Amino acid sequence: IPRQLVRRAARTGEPQGRLLTDPATWRDPYPLHAEVRARGELVPGSLSVLTASHRVTREVLGSADFGVVGPVEQLPGRLARLHAWAAQGAPVHPLAPPSLLGVDPPEHTRYRRLVSKVFTARAVEALRPRVRQTAGALLDDLARVAARPGGDGVADLVDGYAVRLPVAVIADILGVPEQRRDEVLAFQHGLAKSLDAATGWREFRAVEGSLRGFDDWIGRHLAQLRREPGEDLLSGLLAAEDDGTRLDERELRATAGLLLAAGFETTVNLIGSAAELLLTHPGQLAAVRADPELWPGAVEESLRLESPVQITSRAAQRDTRVAGHAVRRGTRLVTLLGAANRDPEVFADPERFDVRRPNARDHLAFSAGRHHCLGAALARLEGEEGLRALFERFPDLALAPGARRTSTRVLRGWEHLPVRLGGA
Ligand code: HEM
Repeated sequence: IPRQLVRRAARTGEPQGRLLTDPATWRDPYPLHAEVRARGELVPGSLSVLTASHRVTREVLGSADFGVVGPVEQLPGRLARLHAWAAQGAPVHPLAPPSLLGVDPPEHTRYRRLVSKVFTARAVEALRPRVRQTAGALLDDLARVAARPGGDGVADLVDGYAVRLPVAVIADILGVPEQRRDEVLAFQHGLAKSLDAATGWREFRAVEGSLRGFDDWIGRHLAQLRREPGEDLLSGLLAAEDDGTRLDERELRATAGLLLAAGFETTVNLIGSAAELLLTHPGQLAAVRADPELWPGAVEESLRLESPVQITSRAAQRDTRVAGHAVRRGTRLVTLLGAANRDPEVFADPERFDVRRPNARDHLAFSAGRHHCLGAALARLEGEEGLRALFERFPDLALAPGARRTSTRVLRGWEHLPVRLGGA
């Protein structure tokens, strides 16, 4: 999106101008959500159309009339450059082809079928004992950090735990041995930032180093797995076939990069936000502690109330209608997932954190339609096991001063969440 358009939208006070440019809105998007909701189901601006409605969001994400990529001749400048960049053999980018998030059918259907062959519910469930074991080992480390001289019994829950669990899981999925886990961690910041598509070309260039580093690394790693395949999902993907075709080298790199980009910071944010919500709602925490069957509900309710991915968007592939309104081909529709998940038409008393909420799972935190999060079952598993292990291990866990939110437009969570561990 050309910068002068973004600046103009911000100057005129359009909701989307604030969304694109105002860090205060990223830290606290809820007043903006309320404003968009008050203006109607579809709120047109000079750059795109916004919606805060659950019904409209579901309709758009599920519609064949909308794609992740606009009609090619109408791509805004930034995306057009990204696509040109991808076509020139630049490193794979999680939002550009051939990443799943950068393609529409028929490519999307083919990639998704292949990846789903190895990313099955069974394969995910098989990771559970390992996730449990990893969580236990990481909590031992966390206790050591808090107990060190001057540590005062305090540790950062994000750096010391929430970050480490998903890295360990993704390393397992990619077939990276435990002693080389830090190699995966090295790329995560750049890759996670690359998901924030609203940032400009300059920001794209800033993440290029991480993307290039990852591309080189994954190329070497894939060569190694070809020589010595393991039990991991990436080795399975190397061998997976559909109708006699396989993913080629670039498609494999893109898929591995997407698993890391899409599966990392999102899960960090789920664990951080859920922990913070539980620690600030002692009654809810007591209920979950008394009845561990409530853990899945606590995870769903956290995903709903503090959605780790706040926004996604789609482009109309043809002239169409949404919620009874005409929408022209090429229109970008920005769906505010975090707002849809607090839509009072769907969720009673939507601001309330209630681990027993009967329809919490109707949230759209994992999107909907053909791009519905491929890792949703894994994210739920990590959330349930990771949080349960944390709260069982430290019965007196409490927040300590110094918490700081992450402030990007798309991702919502905590950058630092100091906690006092109490007696273990
Ligand atoms: C797609 C959210 C964890 C892999 C998505 C999308 C969302 C999302 C909103 C769709 C974006 C769109 O429609 O434009 C989340 C959240 C997570 C999480 C909130 C954690 C709480 C994971 C994990 C993995 C993963 C753990 C795998 C390791 C993917 C992939 C896609 C995706 C591969 C692309 C699917 C496609 O385009 O067909 N995720 N995700 N995600 N996610 Fe997740």
